[in-house]
Amino acid sequence: MNKKFVIAIDGPAASGKSTTAKQLAGKLKYIYIDTGAMYRASALCTLLQNMSLNDEAALNNMLNEISIKIEYAKDGNRIYLNGKDVSERIREADITKLSSQIAVIRIVREKMVELQRKIGEDGGVIMDGRDIGTVVFPNADFKFFMIADVKTRALRRWKEAKEKSEIISIGEIEKELIWRDENDSNREISPLKQADDAIPIDTSKMSIDEQVQFIYNKIK
Ligand code: DC
Repeated sequence: MNKKFVIAIDGPAASGKSTTAKQLAGKLKYIYIDTGAMYRASALCTLLQNMSLNDEAALNNMLNEISIKIEYAKDGNRIYLNGKDVSERIREADITKLSSQIAVIRIVREKMVELQRKIGEDGGVIMDGRDIGTVVFPNADFKFFMIADVKTRALRRWKEAKEKSEIISIGEIEKELIWRDENDSNREISPLKQADDAIPIDTSKMSIDEQVQFIYNKIK
């Protein structure tokens, strides 16, 4: 495989995108970009600067100055916000919610899309998110849309939380996922939705290896 493809993987939270994309990137020797982390870093930036999401002028200034750097590590991306490693902080619950809230704002999306297109312009990239196949790279070489039932997704997130010794119930996680699905799917700009030409994958009953192999076979 000499041609360096752009591969888009979209879908709701915990549908298996990032784990699959990470492993696939390793197999194909591609760069993996977790675009959700970029919205999370922007959300953290507003929190650190004590900014209201309604203050468009302040948001605009912030976006003009923001530096989001992605380091491509073997086990996933490390994210630097204005020079500081925020990879762990952006996974906390307050930022999870705020990232979905900030993602409805047009100027924020425009900035993120601009950065994402720059990173992916030479190909050899697997990008996961909500609008990669519909907006960021509508001409991507391959598009996949991953889904899984909400109970399976909540269980996955609960297991991850347990590994990090975080105490949270499956019910709470499920509620948060449902809220985020709604917020991400019903926003006006670039809502979460399957591109017409995306290949759907229901990962509810699939192992990670099966997910990776499924996509790998399609690309081969
Ligand atoms: O993938 P994630 O759960 O880390 O994403 C966090 C939030 O960022 C998600 O709830 C919606 C937003 N997001 C988006 O609007 N567009 C993307 N391409 C990626 C994420």
